[in-house]
Amino acid sequence: MDLSGKTAVVTGSSSGIGLAVVNALIQADAEVFGLSRRVTAVDHERFHWMQTDLRQAGEIDRAFAGILERQGRVDLLVNNAGFGFFREVEAIDPDEWRNLMDTNLTAMFLCTRKVVPSMKANRSGMIVNVGSVAGKRGIKGGTAYCASKFAVNGFSESLMEELREFGIRVACVNPGSVMTGFFDHAGVQPKKYLLPDDLARLIVSLVLLPDGMLPDELTVRPL
Ligand SMILES: NC(=O)c1ccc[n+]([C@@H]2O[C@H](COP(=O)([O-])OP(=O)(O)OC[C@H]3O[C@@H](n4cnc5c(N)ncnc54)[C@H](OP(=O)(O)O)[C@@H]3O)[C@@H](O)[C@H]2O)c1
Repeated sequence: MDLSGKTAVVTGSSSGIGLAVVNALIQADAEVFGLSRRVTAVDHERFHWMQTDLRQAGEIDRAFAGILERQGRVDLLVNNAGFGFFREVEAIDPDEWRNLMDTNLTAMFLCTRKVVPSMKANRSGMIVNVGSVAGKRGIKGGTAYCASKFAVNGFSESLMEELREFGIRVACVNPGSVMTGFFDHAGVQPKKYLLPDDLARLIVSLVLLPDGMLPDELTVRPL
């Protein structure tokens, strides 16, 4: 997809991977909308921040209504927002569990269902979901996070099969550790990291592939 003049939405735009993806999409000439609770500090005429708590369905409805009213379509959705923690299962409060699932999984579903109608009408579009290597194999202490990211992989694969006949591409990118604020609250510290700008370049390079190519899943780790 040539991103020039296309409308892109990035969830979790205020920091880390999402912020890097926003900047890479602006570089690729897209019109970019970022959704997050904290301000997304990007000053560019083609960037629009919409304060959104993605755990609230009504806030998602409002954000996408505004985007669709203004642009008439969404060509690219990057479902990136999320967080994780690693802890013994009995130490996880049920409200923390629900909060994680609402943020990492349900928000992805709610945002996706907002963009699919315009993508189907245009018979084009792409949805990139940010999973994790924690969505491919279980990790000690990761019952909640891994469950959410395994679900992201299942959601993505099913969505890919559902939408490909409409000319819509769905990809799930599963990174290993990336140097972001994720680890401020995760309760673990990895030894090696990817850089968010490098991951953003990878994500945008998938989007820029010819429309006839469907990269459905990519796992990427620090060397
Ligand atoms: N860092 C890693 O090693 C790593 C590895 C694999 C996968 N991932 C995944 O990558 C994604 C991005 O994480 P990151 O590493 O870039 O961490 P980050 O710097 O902490 O960024 C997380 C982003 O998600 C947003 N977010 C969280 N809860 C939200 C909510 N309720 N409503 C709206 N936005 C919300 C945050 O925005 P606000 O706080 O402003 O709302 C922030 O922009 C996550 O899905 C994470 O699971 C990260």
